[in-house]
Amino acid sequence: MLTVDFKNALSEKLKGEGLSKKEFQELQRKYQSIKSVLTQKKQLGFIDLPYQKSTHLELLEAEAKKIRKNFQNVFIIGIGGSSLGSIALMKSLKPFQTEQPHLFFLDNPEAGYIDFLIKNVDLSKTLLIVISKSGGTIESLSIFSVLYAQMLKKMGSKAKKNVVTITENNNGPLAKITRKEGFTTFEVPLNVGGRFSVFTNVGLLPAAIAGINIQKLLKGARNTDLEMAYKLSLLQYSLYKEKGKTMTVFFPYGRILADLGDWYVQLLAESIGKNAKVGPTPLKAVGAMDQHAQLQLFMEGPNNKFHIFVEYLKTKQIRIPTLFKNEKPFEYLQGHDLHEVLLTERKGTAEALASKKRPNITFTMEKIDEENLGELMYLLEIEIAFLGELFQINAFDQPGVEISKILTKQYLSKKN
Ligand code: PA5
Repeated sequence: MLTVDFKNALSEKLKGEGLSKKEFQELQRKYQSIKSVLTQKKQLGFIDLPYQKSTHLELLEAEAKKIRKNFQNVFIIGIGGSSLGSIALMKSLKPFQTEQPHLFFLDNPEAGYIDFLIKNVDLSKTLLIVISKSGGTIESLSIFSVLYAQMLKKMGSKAKKNVVTITENNNGPLAKITRKEGFTTFEVPLNVGGRFSVFTNVGLLPAAIAGINIQKLLKGARNTDLEMAYKLSLLQYSLYKEKGKTMTVFFPYGRILADLGDWYVQLLAESIGKNAKVGPTPLKAVGAMDQHAQLQLFMEGPNNKFHIFVEYLKTKQIRIPTLFKNEKPFEYLQGHDLHEVLLTERKGTAEALASKKRPNITFTMEKIDEENLGELMYLLEIEIAFLGELFQINAFDQPGVEISKILTKQYLSKKN
């Protein structure tokens, strides 16, 4: 179960810099009306995903089992919303890849890395999962073309058995070649945007292949307290509008949650940065290491940031042994648990920021598992959807990225 502590963002604690309890309560009255506007919108298919049919999940699990048995490696080719969610799931829930198959995430067209893989990985024992909602994303299609050509060279027409696509069922380029080549394929629902697609086949198939329990993931998402999500969006909105907190620092404690930060950064930036007017700038930090890298700025730089901490209480217990008596800090560390050090640093940092009137909240998970992560990710998606309503922008499009895509395509076409 997920809990959240808002007190370091309220003005009682921050002496005027945060929101007062009264302001917060008044704003909360809008909850029901905003909720009903939100649920009527068309692109909100993501809201229903935790309630999808168990028969579909069983089908995905069966496919994943087959893949686990038949392939040594899985290359997951996709970018942005088509990869950040599954990377976050994988790195948090299966940080040590000890079993077959080994999963590789290929988002950037980086020749050096692709060349290394071609030379060092047996492509005949490798599955390519190509994920693109639109089916036309050049990074993903270029990586796929290079790897599939290698496979065809090596395996001939059998290569098509080594490809699975996940795309919208329409006339996009990937859907077309899927039909032409007869690849196995899974659908991305039309009414779910890329960055909100972690609970569709986009996130669930790679997760199931990695051995993540996708049923528990969705069970966790169903536990989400929508009002808690709304409170977070209210805070973020009001701190931005009223108190000049134009940046949001997503600050999980533990490298194991670092990729969740990348996922949230995209979710916030691409959804809320709109109309040349609004958009909290997201920043990712990781505790405790960023106490030694970015904290100086957060404490004494401009007071324009809202910090979201994430911590987990339980993990492996490792006692710090007694080694050097009467020698500080060894002396006071002895007998403590290693994870306790990390948790205590998080607490100290949150209090330190509050003492400088810098608002922060903390999400606490009992432990990192499917249910808690499912709950947190779904809550953050809902939070962003509410935030879009509060800012009165469309959180589900990304018109700003189109110009660069069009120009890139024009430049590449000229070469031919
Ligand atoms: O959130 C989004 O919509 C984007 O980040 C997309 O996921 C990203 O551009 C990749 O698009 P596609 O899945 O169509 O390849």
